[in-house]
Amino acid sequence: MIEPIRWNTDHLLLIDQLKLPMVEVWVEIRDLHQGAAAIKDMIVRGAPAIGVTAAYTYALAFQNKAYSKDYAAEVRSILVATRPTAVNLFWAVDEMEKVAEANQSNLYDSLLEHAKKIHSDDISMNKKIGTHALSLFPKKLKVLTHCNAGSLATGGYGTALGVIYSAFAEGLVEKVWVDETRPFLQGARLTAYELQKAGVPNTLICDNMSASLMAKGEIDLVVVGSDRIAANGDVANKIGTYALAVLCQYHKIPFYVAAPSSTIDFDMVSGDDIPIEERAKSELGVFNGKQIVHDLENIYNPGFDVSPCHLVSGIITEQQVHHFPYIKSLQSCK
Ligand code: MRU
Repeated sequence: MIEPIRWNTDHLLLIDQLKLPMVEVWVEIRDLHQGAAAIKDMIVRGAPAIGVTAAYTYALAFQNKAYSKDYAAEVRSILVATRPTAVNLFWAVDEMEKVAEANQSNLYDSLLEHAKKIHSDDISMNKKIGTHALSLFPKKLKVLTHCNAGSLATGGYGTALGVIYSAFAEGLVEKVWVDETRPFLQGARLTAYELQKAGVPNTLICDNMSASLMAKGEIDLVVVGSDRIAANGDVANKIGTYALAVLCQYHKIPFYVAAPSSTIDFDMVSGDDIPIEERAKSELGVFNGKQIVHDLENIYNPGFDVSPCHLVSGIITEQQVHHFPYIKSLQSCK
C-alpha cells in the first residue's frame, strides 16, 4: 500500500500527488513555508493527510526557534490559510499549539514526537474504521467511491478506501467503481492507481455515469470520506458527493461516510456553517495547459458540497458505526 507521508531524520517527505500516477516523486519539506505551500498547492491533499502534514510542519517551524506567543500565532495563521474546508488541519494545529505551550524547554523534540503520534494514530484509527465497517457488508458487494479517501488522503490505509481494503481482505468486495471526480480528477489519478496497486478490482467511470449504473443494479453500496462533519451529521466532502447521496436515496442504496473523529467539528451546528473552498477557475476552463472555454471568468468552482445528515445511512468512525440522529450518537466522539 502506498505510504504518502514519511519523516526522515530532520525533514518531511511527501509523495507528490500532482505527479501521480505517472511517476512517484518524493518532495522534501524542510520548513514552515515549504509545508504550507505543499498543502496549498495540493502536493498533499485529503483531510487527514493535510492534518498530519500540518502537524509535522508545525514541528519544523520550531526546529531552530524558541517559543514565543507571536511566532506561534504566525505559524498558525500561515498553516490555517492553506485550505479552508478540511477541519483536520485546524484540529492538528490546535493539538500542536497545546504541546508547544506546555513544553517550551524541550520544544522541537516534544512537537516532533506529537506529530509522529498524530500520524500513527491516524493509521490505527483508519484500520479500526475498516473493522467496524465489516458489519455493513452482508455479502460480496459492488462498491462505488468518490474522490480519493485512501492511503494517499490520510496518514496511511485510508478512510473510505480503508473500508474497502478491510472488506476486500475478507472476500466481501466484488469490484469498486471509481468516480473520476471532476475537475481535479482525484478518482482517476489517485484512487484507480491506489486500488490497482493494492490488487482490488476496479473500474474508472465519469461522475455522470453513476446514476445509470445504479439503475442497472451495478452498485450495492457507496462509501466516501469527509473533510468536515457538522455536529448534526451533515457531511462536507468533495464536490459531487451530494449528488451521489441523493441518487442513493432514490435507488435505495446505502450511502456511508467513513472518517476519524477528528473530522467532526462540534462548533458547526449544521452543514450550513461549513466553509466551502472555492478553487481556481482554470481547473475547469483550462485542459492540458490550453484554454478550452470561451469565457474563463464565467466559471464557478466550489471544491466541496454538503450532504444533509438524513441522506447518510451511517458515519463510520474509529469508535463505531453511527446512525441518525447523529446529533446524539456523535457526542461519543468528543
Ligand atoms: O480537495 P481534496 O483532494 O483535498 O479533497 C479530498 C476529499 O474530498 C476527500 O474525500 C476527503 O478529504 C476525505 S480523505 C480521507
